[in-house]
Amino acid sequence: MRLDRFLANLPRYNRQQVRLLLVQRRVHVDGQAVSDPLTEVREFSRIEVDEQLLQAGRPARYLMLHKPSGCVSATHDPQHRTVLDLLPAALRDDLHIAGRLDYNTTGLMILTNDGQWSRRLTQPATKLPKHYLVQTEDEIGPHYVDQFRAGFYFAFEDLTTLPAQLDILGPRSARLAIVEGRYHQVKRMFGHFDNKVVGLHRESMGPIRLDPGLAPGEFRALTAEEIAAV
Ligand code: URA
Repeated sequence: MRLDRFLANLPRYNRQQVRLLLVQRRVHVDGQAVSDPLTEVREFSRIEVDEQLLQAGRPARYLMLHKPSGCVSATHDPQHRTVLDLLPAALRDDLHIAGRLDYNTTGLMILTNDGQWSRRLTQPATKLPKHYLVQTEDEIGPHYVDQFRAGFYFAFEDLTTLPAQLDILGPRSARLAIVEGRYHQVKRMFGHFDNKVVGLHRESMGPIRLDPGLAPGEFRALTAEEIAAV
């Protein structure tokens, strides 16, 4: 929300007072004096006027987890272990998953409480590729490549998938880059050829790569560079 709106929504200030506070540079956002009424503030921003705290700002959190096989990409599940169960209880609060993975899929999973940031990472409109290593039951033919580029019609959603890049690595293995995250997308793409996916591992999401130092089940905070790159 715009800073002037945030301030004018408080019962203590009217619009004229807000304008004056800003002109007099009495408003601080994250420790910096701010005069631009259009400055964007969020639930994570610390906002003060004359050293009086108006909003403390929730800490924004960004984690990468090496998802192991055999756990659910959900925050609660009555039956199975979830990815949140792999984190200490103190870290779990208000996190959501940016881009789910199936029960047996392994690899990069990102958890955050910043919805605006995670949407940039996952929305097809931003065209950030997600890279997967795929193992299949049957051989992958060279004709697959053009079909992945052309897209697959998904009747349930009534859409054609966006162009995807398939690099064949071996008779039954490939690296796939897709910009969407439809339900069981990779399995359904290979399903078009009646070829079952028997192993699936996410290597990266946009600029963020799974840290090779993380064993399955381990996690770490994203670096400031990783967060800023999205
Ligand atoms: N596509 C799938 O089919 N499964 C996943 O877990 C991720 C992408």
